[in-house]
Amino acid sequence: MSNIQLTEDEIANNRREFLHIVDSKIKRDGISKFVDEWLDGTSDFFKAPASTKYHGNYKGGLCEHSLNVYHRFEKNYENEKKELKEKFNVELNDESRAIISLFHDICKANYYKLDLRNYKNEETGKWEKKEYYAIDEKFPFGHGEKSVFLLNQYIHLDYMEAICINWHMGGFDRRVLGGDNSLSLAFEKYPLAVLFHISDMEATYFDEKVNK
Ligand SMILES: [Fe+2]
Ligand SMILES: [Fe+2]
Repeated sequence: MSNIQLTEDEIANNRREFLHIVDSKIKRDGISKFVDEWLDGTSDFFKAPASTKYHGNYKGGLCEHSLNVYHRFEKNYENEKKELKEKFNVELNDESRAIISLFHDICKANYYKLDLRNYKNEETGKWEKKEYYAIDEKFPFGHGEKSVFLLNQYIHLDYMEAICINWHMGGFDRRVLGGDNSLSLAFEKYPLAVLFHISDMEATYFDEKVNK
């Protein structure tokens, strides 16, 4: 059983970097209220894990993941922007890219709780109690769609931003698994949503670790 943790310093540094990007890139009406009142206020965003048993399943994992996605998306956009412009006539400004990347998984804030479970210590052979994250959903509104809804309580999203956040899970989205075929139409009409989904996957599987 691995024990990957972020130090309190790393968690604080990630929070600082996250808020610096918000401050420098996002000027939209309502952003200050959103951050002060909700993100850095009543929500546990900066301390939350990114999952219970997958990547980033440790304190601060959610903010770390959001930053990883931000950096991946910036790099991918830089690499692909010429083709996106020439082929599809689409562009995405700094502010939109920051909003999509940093806030795509806010549905996971106030979503996990710490619990205890028994596990066998391989060295001593004894059973011990260990903390783990469990799901404690208080607002069951889905995943990407929940992030869109929460953000829209404070800031106005345009169509591109809403689509990229809504469909960021791609084929892993539960609606798709349940038979909804609107994802392929969304990806056809909004190629940036494809690039964002890939960025989310890269951050998760290339950049992040998991406690097993
Ligand atoms: Fe997600
Ligand atoms: Fe994500």
